[in-house]
Amino acid sequence: MQTQVAILGAGPAGLFLSHLLHLQGIDSIVIESRSREYVEGRLRAGVLEKGTVDALVEAGLGESLLREGLRHKEINFRFGGRNHTLDLDDLSGGRYVTVYGQQKVVKDIIAARMAAQGKILFETKAEEILGIETANPRVRIVTKNGEQQEISCELVAGCDGFHGISRETIPSSILKTFERVYPFAWLGILAEAPPIFNCVTNVYHEERGFALLSMRSRTLSRLYMQCDPNEKLEDWPDERIWDELERRLEGTEKCKLVRGPILNKGITPMRSFVAEPMSYRRLFLAGDSAHIVPPTGAKGMNLAMADIRVLAPAMIDYFKTGATRLLDAYSDTCLRRVWKVERFSWSVTSMTHNFPEESRFDRRMRSATLDYLTSSKASGTTFAENFVGLPLENSEVQDSERDPRTVML
Ligand code: FAD
Ligand code: PHB
Repeated sequence: MQTQVAILGAGPAGLFLSHLLHLQGIDSIVIESRSREYVEGRLRAGVLEKGTVDALVEAGLGESLLREGLRHKEINFRFGGRNHTLDLDDLSGGRYVTVYGQQKVVKDIIAARMAAQGKILFETKAEEILGIETANPRVRIVTKNGEQQEISCELVAGCDGFHGISRETIPSSILKTFERVYPFAWLGILAEAPPIFNCVTNVYHEERGFALLSMRSRTLSRLYMQCDPNEKLEDWPDERIWDELERRLEGTEKCKLVRGPILNKGITPMRSFVAEPMSYRRLFLAGDSAHIVPPTGAKGMNLAMADIRVLAPAMIDYFKTGATRLLDAYSDTCLRRVWKVERFSWSVTSMTHNFPEESRFDRRMRSATLDYLTSSKASGTTFAENFVGLPLENSEVQDSERDPRTVML
């Protein structure tokens, strides 16, 4: 098989890239190890930055998003048993976030790719990327029937998530990784129950720790709470989950969770991770294959889409003009923003989660930080600016500062 761009992974990053390339007449093949049903049903992110929504709408993918997405102009923090609201609209100069499930974004893009006869190879695993230093790299794949094949291409996009194979294609003498693994996980549920707040609510309880109340619709709640990373789902029957969430919501300002059937449960480990550089010769990493954030700031999918908003125009410029300048700048351009988003996600996690072996003093400091956040316009503005999404930036790194071993030609 032959294509211009081989894309590993049909998550939001890989799918959005193949769609944007198609709009400019550039051919791609997406290789996805899971089935279409699995990818479309995988429950994950829900909060989209305005920049992500605008990019999807501009690319003709906004029909359901604009109809069903819930605009949130506020965010709540509940601590010390009371609610405090940040007015995102006011603090960010009229910006907001949209609640719309990641699996819906994925479904919308797959539908658009299918309507355009786009090539997505489901249940096909990418095993190895070969010849990345040559003008004609190849991806070795294994289909669901166990058949081995090769896809030859001009460029490879590594959008295969944290556990994919792309990142390891970068020689270990060049790849640097930075990581923090947190001593807690998130237990998340989707429940058929109306949300009790009308915006995303971060809850901090000094003894019991973090909880998050979000939603997918007026009748579906998406709820999370911090738990021990070694917990097993079997130890969390539905009633125990509701009881624990309720405990974290106790306080002088009363609020009562509405319980309903739990449709989905999962435990997610929490980590911060960055790989540098995000490109090597003709391989370009995007999304979770290059960086992971803890979900507290709702940034992972937005960051993946932001990478694609930089990568797609760079690839298009290359195929239209032969210029490699934007592709060579891709890693530096993305990493400046990636590190700022890493900082935000790490700081919101640290501000709202209990860590083992800390003192009562540490926990009071956390409550004081939240009090400052929700009572100081300066602090609230900083939060809002990050939460609605930092702008994409242009790389100011000079060509001469770049590692010559990583550039394309
Ligand atoms: P992925 O979605 O991981 O896609 C990678 C794809 O590659 C997968 O489909 C995988 O099957 C495939 N693949 C892997 N290896 C191979 C291979 N060898 N061959 C072929 N295919 C392969 N982000 C937000 O922005 N907002 C939120 O509110 C938010 N909340 C979250 C809540 C939770 C509980 C979790 C877990 C995550 C959340 N995120 C959030 C993060 C977000 O879901 C991810 O950052 C996002 O999925 C990254 O997209 P991606 O396309 O880079 O990778
Ligand atoms: C979600 O709705 O899934 C969600 C909301 C806020 C977060 C993370 C996830 O910080």
